[in-house]
Amino acid sequence: MHHRVFKGQVTCSLVFSVCVAAIGSLQFGYNTGVINAPEKIIRSFYNATYEHRYGKIIPESLLTSLWSLSVAIFSVGGMMGSLSVGFFANRFGRRNSMLLVNVAAIVGGAFMGFSKLAWSPEMLIIGRFIIGIFCGLCTGLVPMYIGELAPTSLRGALGTLNQLGIVIGILVAQIFGLEFILGSETLWPLLLAFTIFLSIIQCALLPFCPESPRYLLITKGEDEKAEMILRKLRGTTDVASDVQEMKDESARMAQEKSVSIIEIFRSSQYRQPITIAIILQLSQQLSGINAVFYYSTSIFEDANVPNPVYATIGAGVVNTVFTIVSLLIVERAGRRTLHLTGLGGMAVGALIMTIALKLKDQDQAWSYVSIVAIYGFVALFEIGPGPIPWFIVAELFSQGPRPAAMAISGCSNWTANFLVGMLFPYAAIACGPYVFLIFMVLLILFFIYTFFKVPETRGRTFEDISQEFQKKGAESRTKSDSVELTGIQGLDKKV
Ligand code: GLC
Repeated sequence: MHHRVFKGQVTCSLVFSVCVAAIGSLQFGYNTGVINAPEKIIRSFYNATYEHRYGKIIPESLLTSLWSLSVAIFSVGGMMGSLSVGFFANRFGRRNSMLLVNVAAIVGGAFMGFSKLAWSPEMLIIGRFIIGIFCGLCTGLVPMYIGELAPTSLRGALGTLNQLGIVIGILVAQIFGLEFILGSETLWPLLLAFTIFLSIIQCALLPFCPESPRYLLITKGEDEKAEMILRKLRGTTDVASDVQEMKDESARMAQEKSVSIIEIFRSSQYRQPITIAIILQLSQQLSGINAVFYYSTSIFEDANVPNPVYATIGAGVVNTVFTIVSLLIVERAGRRTLHLTGLGGMAVGALIMTIALKLKDQDQAWSYVSIVAIYGFVALFEIGPGPIPWFIVAELFSQGPRPAAMAISGCSNWTANFLVGMLFPYAAIACGPYVFLIFMVLLILFFIYTFFKVPETRGRTFEDISQEFQKKGAESRTKSDSVELTGIQGLDKKV
């Protein structure tokens, strides 16, 4: 049936390869969510090791710092990993890179898994760092591999599977984190080490997945091998149009040679799209979503919710359901509209959350309002700000600058992720019930920016979009030529 709907393009080989790659997204989600439920138990492990070493109870401020570090160092690793994506992908190929980076997942998982046995919070923190590097690499390699395998007509739908993998990973982590599953005082090391199991599965299956034909043809010039793989992926011997499209792309690339990270910032032609890409990634992270996914159990506890861990799992379910909703409507409603709806709705959610936290002691009902507010916040996130920034960057750039643009925007995403993970506990202590107002203000600012600056990209070709930016870049160059050059404009002109 499906074969007909998609003109014979959905083959077992394609689905298999995309799903195996998405185990990388699952890993990212799992490690994002895994630290949430066992917070209390791991904190008391930190306390116990401190007492064991120094014979006294750990100062509260040190415990808070150690805990925020354990959460946030994951994103420092992510920043480094995302910046190295280009190096790995071009040197070893897409599939082999995905295979290779699993070494980091296994080492990181082992560090975390053995930390309890070794009485060493340091090992846990190092393990979180290594697993962060792995996840940073996954956030670049997986969407790249999926995008390069997918036929044009399915690129959007298959691309969104990346975010679906992430949210399912978060949900699985939340469920496994339940005390009677793996979130107990004795089993939490297994909860953290579970990532090794996912790695082994991916390593066992990846050898059955093909290398990206685009990589083989465009980067390596191995035309015959690429054609053979394409025939299998497309389920037809007639792959001439695919091959022609790649050859055209290859020719275009020769004209628009690959652009480095520095060149993107210096050229006025890319200034606007890279600004949009970075701000969209910042809007995703500074919306405060990971304050929820890292800390919701304690947020719910603060709001007097009776079963905070279950409320957290509820957030994971809402998260997954609304990613599927977004997947179904993104090609119809458009990216801009969905992103604006998401940001606006989240701002309202943040306001309601603030009121609920403020009034929580007056009536138990306010605890339930806080649950609804957080669920609404999460649902609206997945409508737009969750999936869109990950795939819109590719749409804003043509082939030459795309890899560098992905690295820059990916790194901005992880940097903001780090800041939220690290600072939220301090902000929560300093601002009390008003902490979500910070996100509300940021959300409003991002809404205004998106409204005025972000173009709609749905249904437009890469070329069409990049030409629009080129025109704008040229216009701004002419303008700056016609006024007296200040120092900064002078730099503009040189490029
Ligand atoms: C996005 C974000 C990630 C977040 C997740 C929540 O993938 O990049 O940081 O945890 O959505 O679903």
